[in-house]
Amino acid sequence: MTDMEQVEAFAGQVVGDVAAALSGVMTNIGHKLGLYKAMAGAGALTSGARAKTTDLHERPAREWPGNHTAGGYVTYDAATRTYTLPDAHVPVLADPDSPVFLIPALEVAASLWLDEDKITDVFRTGEGIAWGEHHHRLFCGSEALFRPGYKASLVADWISAMPGVEEKLQAGAKIADVGCGHGASSILLAKAFPNSMVYGFDLHEHSIETARLRAREAECGDNVKFEIASAKDYEEADFDLICFMDCLHDMGDPVGAAHHARQALKSDGDILLVEPAASDNLEDSINPVARLYYAASTAVCTPCSLSQEVGAALGAQAGEKRLAEAMKEAGFTSVRRAAETAFNIILQCRVS
Ligand SMILES: C[S@@+](CC[C@H](N)C(=O)[O-])C[C@H]1O[C@@H](n2cnc3c(N)ncnc32)[C@H](O)[C@@H]1O
Repeated sequence: MTDMEQVEAFAGQVVGDVAAALSGVMTNIGHKLGLYKAMAGAGALTSGARAKTTDLHERPAREWPGNHTAGGYVTYDAATRTYTLPDAHVPVLADPDSPVFLIPALEVAASLWLDEDKITDVFRTGEGIAWGEHHHRLFCGSEALFRPGYKASLVADWISAMPGVEEKLQAGAKIADVGCGHGASSILLAKAFPNSMVYGFDLHEHSIETARLRAREAECGDNVKFEIASAKDYEEADFDLICFMDCLHDMGDPVGAAHHARQALKSDGDILLVEPAASDNLEDSINPVARLYYAASTAVCTPCSLSQEVGAALGAQAGEKRLAEAMKEAGFTSVRRAAETAFNIILQCRVS
């Protein structure tokens, strides 16, 4: 017989999830309207005061914090009818440069809803969806989501964890950023290592156009260049460092991409492979980060790989063991975990 207590407990869990899904829209709206910026460090505000600072109508601006109070995003003082954004919530909701700024994840979620029909069809047909076929909110969402983590860690923690690499890049080296998307990591590398030359490659034409625009906006010099190219056919070679930033698992032929990189790398060169944090087994992945990645992987990463030749579909939760196997199959003899964060594992691969 079904245990009604268990049914109710699970229904409660799903109510929480549905509330989170609806609240995600509220959170994104709060960001777009500048409500978190207005509340950050401002102490207790009435909805009227907040509406005035942000030039909004008071009625919707009064309804919105009810959702945020119930969800624990803001605190409410009933005596003064004021709302406060706790200081600890500011880096997550109001600071786009913070490594825990999570608002762009909601842009990614929005793109999944907008592409729901296409994603459903993947299950029926087994055919993939190319990266560029997704709604554009995916591209800017991923860029904004990944950039703060790269800014905080790419040079300071990840490159520095690869012995001898930082010195080479400072002196002047040749770097490839394969699957560079909007070029966030390429631009950071070009700025951090002005004596080095950075080449960003990506299949997606629109991403490359945006990467070029971002480089101009960031006032990069001429040490960063973006080209439309697949991971298996860029012609430039003799690289000291080739980076795959959160993209190897999206590729149809990750072994082919790694093999091409091995040929384009100097004999003492390094691969920096940044991939989503993952365990090797599903049973060790019962946590919200894995849940989030499996959803993105089902909707975006696996279909992207299926849309390309080979269609290996490693998935965003491939884990270190499977990634190392792919790199070894491509001829890399040394694969080591150089660093890790809550969201990423960072592998260094060499032929040595
Ligand atoms: C999740 S995005 C990551 C973008 C960027 N590296 C970042 O961290 O912001 C994956 C990227 O891989 C690119 N990509 C997928 N398959 C590719 C392939 N075979 N060759 C080159 N780029 C590819 C996509 O176009 C997309 O820009």
